[in-house]
Amino acid sequence: MAGFRIPYFRPSINDSDIRAVTDVLRSGWLTTGPNVKALEEELGAYCGAGHVNAVNSATAAMHLALAAWELGPGDEVITTPYTFTATANVIIHTGATPVFVDVRDGDANIEPALIERAITPATKAIIPVHFAGEPCDMDAIMAIARPREIRVLEDAAHAIGTYYRGRPVGGLSDAAAFSFYANKTITTGEGGALATDDEELSERVRVLTLHGMSRDAWKRYDVGGAWRYDVVEFGFKDNLTDIAASLGRTQLGRIEEFIEQRTRIAQRYIANLRDEEHVLLPQFAEDNRHAWHLFMVRIRESSPIGRDDVIRKLAEDGIQTSVHFIPLHYFTAYRKLGRWKEGDFPVAEAIFSGAISLPMFPEMTDNEVDEVSASLRQIFRGG
Ligand SMILES: Cc1ncc(COP(=O)(O)O)c(C=O)c1O
Repeated sequence: MAGFRIPYFRPSINDSDIRAVTDVLRSGWLTTGPNVKALEEELGAYCGAGHVNAVNSATAAMHLALAAWELGPGDEVITTPYTFTATANVIIHTGATPVFVDVRDGDANIEPALIERAITPATKAIIPVHFAGEPCDMDAIMAIARPREIRVLEDAAHAIGTYYRGRPVGGLSDAAAFSFYANKTITTGEGGALATDDEELSERVRVLTLHGMSRDAWKRYDVGGAWRYDVVEFGFKDNLTDIAASLGRTQLGRIEEFIEQRTRIAQRYIANLRDEEHVLLPQFAEDNRHAWHLFMVRIRESSPIGRDDVIRKLAEDGIQTSVHFIPLHYFTAYRKLGRWKEGDFPVAEAIFSGAISLPMFPEMTDNEVDEVSASLRQIFRGG
């Protein structure tokens, strides 16, 4: 990340990751094959899900689940505007209607009481987003959804390795979508996966992932494989390559080490910034395991310096940051739908107005955490 002394993120790629990828490059089989299958099994064992479909993004995983459930025009899906646009884009792409409800002030996760109020006879699914790696209140959400036969799809893009009350994200609802994008807890460059205990869902997603074909390429070209296949429905092209999956496997082997490092960094930020009056630290529940995908602080309204200026001053000091998230209803495409206006989601809007995601990556040193903390504190002292 040229120009920054401390980047926002740097992927952790070691020799075992590089070896795994070069082995695949030399193997003669590059696309979906044995490494994808092995990654699916290893992910299932890791997150406690009976079935995993590895695909080319979390976006694809979510879209495929909604498509497999046959959501379409007239159906409503409840989520929050405090997320990445992918969460709502996939709802729109099925033809269904996204219904936004506000988040909780503490952790920026969906407020279950507001879900209940937003339910109509057209509600078919809820997409809770585990913001930053802290889980949503899944017991409350499932208690609302189950009796009404509303499906729950977790946007777990930030939450591989997150535990909710002792249970890993992946086996908590109807399905969960993980992201292996370049800056996620584990990466395949681009990639994602859908975890579910529902075999029927997983099988339908497998067919939809590859054009709606009855058998994938690996099986068609396997020894004894027949050339004939059927197209059983109109699918998509969302499969993961074996090149990417091989990296996913070695990264998954290192995930506990990554989360330990992220936890070390989060704890150090908290200790360094605990008594900084202008900064609000992330809130989390002790009975969960936070995956610390993001370390987001909020600049308080009482601060003499606003969020945008803090970001600029940190950048001048060589520190790169990010903002998660610009609420979706602020964007042009959403505004054109004419359904929401500024002020509709006061909690999400208030969180956004102070939000800064500080640098967070496993190889970040204690010194670097201290430098970011000191630079931030100095800004409020006129530095
Ligand atoms: C909350 C959330 N959902 C979904 C996604 C999309 O993930 P992917 O890039 O793997 O499709 C992201 C990506 O950053 C995200 O932050």
